Amino acid sequence: MAEALISVLLEQLASVVYQHTNEVVKLVLKADKDVKSFSSKLKAIHGVLEDAEKKQVTEARVRDWLQKLKDVSYEMDDVLDEWNTEILKQQVEEGKKKVCFPTPANCCCFGQVNKAIHHHNIARRIKKLNEKLTVIAAEREMYGFHQSTIGGHDDQQLIHRRKTSSLVDISMIFGREEEKEMLLSKLLRGSNEDGGRFLVIPIVGMGGMGKTTLAQLAYNNEKVTAHFHKKVWVCVSDPFDEIKIAKAITESLLGTPSSSNELEILLQCIKTHIENKKLLLVLDDVWTEDETKWENLKLPIIMRSCEEGSSILVTTRKQGVAKMMRATNNMIYLDELNDKDCLALFNSIAFLDREEDEADEFGAIGKEIVKRCKGLPLAAKTLGSLLWYKKTRKEWWDVLNSKIWELEEVEEQVFRPLLLSYYDLAPAIKRCLLYCAIFPKDYDLKKDNLIELWMSQDYLNSKEKKEKKRIGQYYFENLSMRSFFQDFRKDEMGNVYGCKIHDIVHDFVMFLTKKECTIIDADAAEGANKKIEPSGDKVRHLTLINVPEGPLSFPTSCYGCKNMRTLTLLDSSITTISSGSIMQMKCLRTLNLSGNMLDEVPKKIGELIHLRYMDLSRSRNLKELSEAVCDLYNLQTLVLVHCYELEKLPKAMGKLINLKHLYVDGCHMLEYLPKGIGSLKSLQVLDCFHVCEGDDEALKFGDLGIMDQLQGSLKIGWLGKVDASEIEKAQLGNKEHLSHLKVDFLGGREQRKGDSEIVKALQPHQNLESLSILWCHGTTESLYWIKSLRNLRKLYLDGWRFCEFLPPLGKLPSLEILTIMDMWNVKKVGVEFVGIEEEQVPGTLFPKLKRLCFWNMPNWEEWAFLSEITIMPRLSELRIEWCPKLKALPNFLYKIKALRTLEIVGCSILEGEYEKGVGKEWHNISHIPNVTVR
Ligand SMILES: *[C@@H]1O[C@H](CO)[C@@H](O)[C@H](O)[C@H]1NC(C)=O
Ligand SMILES: *[C@@H]1O[C@H](CO)[C@@H](O)[C@H](O)[C@H]1NC(C)=O
Ligand SMILES: *[C@@H]1O[C@H](CO)[C@@H](O)[C@H](O)[C@H]1NC(C)=O
Ligand SMILES: *[C@@H]1O[C@H](CO)[C@@H](O)[C@H](O)[C@H]1NC(C)=O
Repeated sequence: MAEALISVLLEQLASVVYQHTNEVVKLVLKADKDVKSFSSKLKAIHGVLEDAEKKQVTEARVRDWLQKLKDVSYEMDDVLDEWNTEILKQQVEEGKKKVCFPTPANCCCFGQVNKAIHHHNIARRIKKLNEKLTVIAAEREMYGFHQSTIGGHDDQQLIHRRKTSSLVDISMIFGREEEKEMLLSKLLRGSNEDGGRFLVIPIVGMGGMGKTTLAQLAYNNEKVTAHFHKKVWVCVSDPFDEIKIAKAITESLLGTPSSSNELEILLQCIKTHIENKKLLLVLDDVWTEDETKWENLKLPIIMRSCEEGSSILVTTRKQGVAKMMRATNNMIYLDELNDKDCLALFNSIAFLDREEDEADEFGAIGKEIVKRCKGLPLAAKTLGSLLWYKKTRKEWWDVLNSKIWELEEVEEQVFRPLLLSYYDLAPAIKRCLLYCAIFPKDYDLKKDNLIELWMSQDYLNSKEKKEKKRIGQYYFENLSMRSFFQDFRKDEMGNVYGCKIHDIVHDFVMFLTKKECTIIDADAAEGANKKIEPSGDKVRHLTLINVPEGPLSFPTSCYGCKNMRTLTLLDSSITTISSGSIMQMKCLRTLNLSGNMLDEVPKKIGELIHLRYMDLSRSRNLKELSEAVCDLYNLQTLVLVHCYELEKLPKAMGKLINLKHLYVDGCHMLEYLPKGIGSLKSLQVLDCFHVCEGDDEALKFGDLGIMDQLQGSLKIGWLGKVDASEIEKAQLGNKEHLSHLKVDFLGGREQRKGDSEIVKALQPHQNLESLSILWCHGTTESLYWIKSLRNLRKLYLDGWRFCEFLPPLGKLPSLEILTIMDMWNVKKVGVEFVGIEEEQVPGTLFPKLKRLCFWNMPNWEEWAFLSEITIMPRLSELRIEWCPKLKALPNFLYKIKALRTLEIVGCSILEGEYEKGVGKEWHNISHIPNVTVR
């Protein structure tokens, strides 16, 4: 941790000194000398950090020394940031871009004597810190650290053979055939031998044994899916919270969030939903052996109303859990893998994409390394990912002979391979990984969100001034490829947007950040009053759970926490923030108050000068945002989504010159965005823009013209009221980083003539990946530019009620997903849809299209294509719903080999023609594996 912190601080120091070697500054600050001296000492210390970090795992005094070093570094970071903020503030106040330093003379003529005093204060603190570091540097001698020989970690030096997009997400399972068969036969058994109506099957084994993987394998098995009527997967973890579990089950059954927090109501709800159904319930990662807790959940009673043959599958590290559930008979115990299977798992990752002869060369060392995995699949996987990166025999030897294997104090055996992998990361990436300790176990991480959080902690710097978001993406990939992340979630286009952390990896990061990251449940008495060891001022990242309604008050245990850089409140309902609490939050970089009941943001919030990330989303009572927010000059991310009552944003938002991400989607009462936002050239994300004409205070659509950096998604609402010339000013065509665009017109019955002109003016950049246009009254000719979107993968057209023909889409080379909805005037779909002229000889049409859906086209009768051309060769899913007049499917569909799913719903004519077994046309589609006609 220290190494990462200090590497980054060194870079910062370098840039500060560089930026500020201005005679005048030196005069005022007198700090230049101290900064330089601090910096050079820190550099010297940096050389031994690698060794120190390893020693501290076993040596307490080294740990203390590192702690002191970290404290000073954090404080220096704060001081430097204050200094920078001061400069920023002036830039804003003077409205100048050029950095201008205060001289004693102009300080006075601005009448800002305070400022000069403030600068002296900064200088004084730097001096003090420098003195502290002198002592720490001298102490270093006592420990006999080795100077590290390698020139530090440079992420550029690493070789790259594998395509970086192919994340390691190995769910393959090695050597668990027997257990798998046993589990499946238990789940799929016809009736119950031991007479009970349902079965409880515990999967027991130590951490990293692959319990969850085995459970997942069964859960996703086709036969299992077909066997049960309902399947529910709940992550339990520690502590066992009956209400949370019941809630999770309810939500999974209903598919929507549940509002109740009453156990009885929830249980009743579960009961009605599973009555006479065959249910598979997975409780993943159960810890509690406390029978009363288990009984409160009343699962056995509920399960009795299920159909016979239902099952509860439980994964746990503790045999006692199986006992408590009285299910030891059905227990499946996961033992260590044998060497052969362990090696196979390791090889499958370490030798991925390697040449045959390489396997020969490294095979013997690999075998030795695998012996150290002690049969733990997670260890084999982690080491496999590590060695995949290692090119030379020497590097493999180094891993095999690492001192880490000799560490005795490391709490769990499985931490050792993780430590090896961890030490191999570049310092900045280490910090990013450790930051994940702020999340509770089994948390759904969102990639973009995580990157913004890292950014807010200033972890994403690079020498080459690469864009921070890019760096964040690299780091995310790096951590994924080294198996620190898993369970990747992908959107329909296959882009990873989320993941989880294996619970052992979570234990591991908690182990490494023991003092710095703390999660406290304010509800649980032990949690709230437990004293934080050794003292709160070491806590840098605090997550509070279940803070009760009322002003934010820190639990007794957190009174000493005054150096927090992150504060996250989960499942809490605070209404205000007291001044006292603000005092405790002065170092905050990141504040997450999402889902609370704030009705205002206190004026004092402006004092949190370091703040970079503020999430106030889902604040149900928030009507207005204080102007004081605009004093947060460092703010990069402001999340306000789903603040349903929010009516107004502060006028002076133009002052937030560092704002990069503004999220306002779902703020239905928000009348407009303030004009000042139009001056934020560096804005990269504006998720939603509602056109509001006629108010001078409002941001105009054309004001987006200067925001060339916009990226990610943009949703535009209420189009149709605006003039096409205003749309042109916005220059969407220049926004090359924008990937997703959703445009929503006003709808309505009367045709608006202007819509076509507006659509013409919308022409986006050819990099666009997905596009939706809803409730437009224009014609498809206005979409003439769609041909140019060579990268478009997803298109969604809905509610073009006055348009008679579909646009020409057949030649879009990248289109994968196409949805056409509510086109009330379309009677015929023909050649115009594929977009070929009469005499042209076309290549393949819709070459990449995988999913096609037509929905609610009440007047559509005919779908005719030329049959001699190759059309939609990759189509795997076709859905036609609510098209009652459609007479037949075109012949080419019958020949598409890739087609696996065909769904025809609410189409009265087609239903007869294609009825299973009897319809006239049934023979033509009977080869498609998954056909639904109803
Ligand atoms: C991280 O990933 C990026 C691209 O994915 C690559 O360029 C870089 O070398 C990787 N760094 C490490 C330490 O793996
Ligand atoms: C902020 O808190 C909300 C819930 O309170 C959570 O859903 C969200 O993921 C959190 N965001 C971060 C970045 O921690
Ligand atoms: C569809 O099936 C019918 C009856 O089996 C058959 O006569 C007809 O030729 C088939 N059409 C195509 C295009 O294969
Ligand atoms: C089969 O079709 C249904 C309905 O269209 C769909 O929900 C399901 O995912 C499909 N199953 C498979 C295995 O493709």
